[in-house]
Amino acid sequence: MLLKNKIALVTGASRGIGRGIALSLAKEGCSVIISDIDEVELKNVEREISLLGVRVLLIKCDVSQKDQVNEMMQKVQEIFGKLDILVNNAGIYPHKSFEEITEGDWDRVISVNLKSIFLCSQEALKIMPNGGRIINISSIASFVGFNGLTHYCASKGALNSMIRALALEVASRKITVNAIAPGVIETPGAHNPDKNLENQTISMIPLARMGQVEDIAWAVVFLASDLSSYITGQTIIVDGGWTLR
Ligand SMILES: NC(=O)c1ccc[n+]([C@@H]2O[C@H](COP(=O)([O-])OP(=O)(O)OC[C@H]3O[C@@H](n4cnc5c(N)ncnc54)[C@H](O)[C@@H]3O)[C@@H](O)[C@H]2O)c1
Repeated sequence: MLLKNKIALVTGASRGIGRGIALSLAKEGCSVIISDIDEVELKNVEREISLLGVRVLLIKCDVSQKDQVNEMMQKVQEIFGKLDILVNNAGIYPHKSFEEITEGDWDRVISVNLKSIFLCSQEALKIMPNGGRIINISSIASFVGFNGLTHYCASKGALNSMIRALALEVASRKITVNAIAPGVIETPGAHNPDKNLENQTISMIPLARMGQVEDIAWAVVFLASDLSSYITGQTIIVDGGWTLR
């Protein structure tokens, strides 16, 4: 067990990559706080985690709202007394051509994907002991362009830059700050029923398969564990080789 006696908070944990991360952390003996705007699905994840025999706490929270984030971290402090690992996973990727993106669309993507990292990390640091971990879910869209996702690409590119500066600021507390940039991962949010499109996507991936949530979750477990204590400020690409060509 790599994470026994550790306490982690995962945002956007109701489904997809966040759910996969929460379950993998729990399998390594970690107590997990799961948070999302979708409380119904979150309850199912809570049940799944409690079956693994670790402590689990569900908190409904919109990570783009400062008051909700502050309340969430206060609750963590009251119940657990500290937070060892923060996983900033919640994110949205609504497709729209650049010319059609409204100011509201832009603000929403930047708020949920980027401002949330600022809000959650700042509050988490108040209750994080020396040696803590902040792990952020970026995207290969921070390195390469995707049609219809200019606001999303901007939010994830800024995330990669932000964590380098934050990693510097908290290094003296032995807190590491890293990101994982997934390629195409099979999740409810990214699901497309078009088989032709899926085959086309797979043809672009050197390892010739879609990514699974576990591919990302195990990278998070590594970054959360002592095995990665000398890695900070980095964005690790987990994409089956998609960005190699
Ligand atoms: N699936 C992929 O192919 C892929 C690729 C690269 C990066 N990512 C990133 O991985 C993360 C998870 O993606 P996914 O595919 O699992 O998405 P998903 O849509 O399947 O799940 C996202 C979860 O985040 C929650 N959420 C959305 N807005 C929120 C908010 N304001 N506050 C709290 N929770 C909120 C949703 O309710 C949902 O449970 C995102 O940051 C995404 O950008 C995904």
